[in-house]
Amino acid sequence: MGFVRNAWYALSWSHEIGADILLARKVLGKPVIAWRKSSGEVVALADMCPHRFAPLSKGEKVGDGVRCVYHGLEFDGTGKCTHNYHGVAPSSAQVQSFPIREEQKLVWIWMGDVELSEKVAIPEIPFLTEEGWRIQFGTTNAKAGYELYNDNLLDLTHATFLHGVIGGPEWKPKTRIRELDDGRIHCNYLVEEMGVLGDNEKRVQVEDNLYWTAPSTHVLSIEHTPRSATATPFYVISCHLLTPETERSTHYFWAGAVPAGVPIPDEVLHDTLRTAFEIEDKPMLEAIQANMGEADLWDLNPVLLPADSGAVRARRRLKALREEERQ
Ligand code: FES
Ligand SMILES: [Fe+2]
Repeated sequence: MGFVRNAWYALSWSHEIGADILLARKVLGKPVIAWRKSSGEVVALADMCPHRFAPLSKGEKVGDGVRCVYHGLEFDGTGKCTHNYHGVAPSSAQVQSFPIREEQKLVWIWMGDVELSEKVAIPEIPFLTEEGWRIQFGTTNAKAGYELYNDNLLDLTHATFLHGVIGGPEWKPKTRIRELDDGRIHCNYLVEEMGVLGDNEKRVQVEDNLYWTAPSTHVLSIEHTPRSATATPFYVISCHLLTPETERSTHYFWAGAVPAGVPIPDEVLHDTLRTAFEIEDKPMLEAIQANMGEADLWDLNPVLLPADSGAVRARRRLKALREEERQ
């Protein structure tokens, strides 16, 4: 399998890296430590001291750098050894550093060829920075590979059975899947009339639009248009950023937003989103990964249904990107 390396991946939400935090997170199989300098800039290094390979994240922040808790070597944000308690700071002690960008309320990390980082764009998620949205955020980690997560988001027919609130038995959508000229995959789902939240009196049209950007950024909108007198319009938009931790585990950053004036309490919005993503999707994906073990999806000869076409195209694209990088 392997990873697409030359891409910007979400390392964290900006708010996860406060002034005193040493954030430890494995990305594409590599332990990473990140922290915020007094200037506000976030820096990231390999989370491994070059002396005896202790995790630097077990140490502490010292000024704008970090001190290893094992024998006390200190490193700055570029990974250079700046202090040795027991003698001269060895110039050979250099920790790998990773390019970081902080944009759209997220800290993004680049694990690939450093020279290419400037040439690759960070996926745009406009609602994260636009005025007029009330946003809820989540971060979780799942013991399932990120391609299983892509498959999940690129086939929303699973909502009929897995998601009571955003799907349910009447969720039997007409599905249109296409590739856009810019390389994104767009999945459109339409149910012309269904009951809302199990309330059959309230009839709405439901239209979902999901856009996938390689390797693993999804933006999903769900829109209700009233079809009966008691129903009300509703719109929720969410993003789903999947950063491989290892080949079979994923950091999952999600955010969901409603227009600022919508009278839904923050806790209810947060709970609804979290239930779908973390209580309904996540255990299913972890169970699938456990069933599949180390096998690749294609080696297991999966049955393909029409609604799988987005996921299949995404998998093909990722395979092509990985092969391109290998050459
Ligand atoms: S392992 Fe870090 S100083 Fe020795
Ligand atoms: Fe889901």
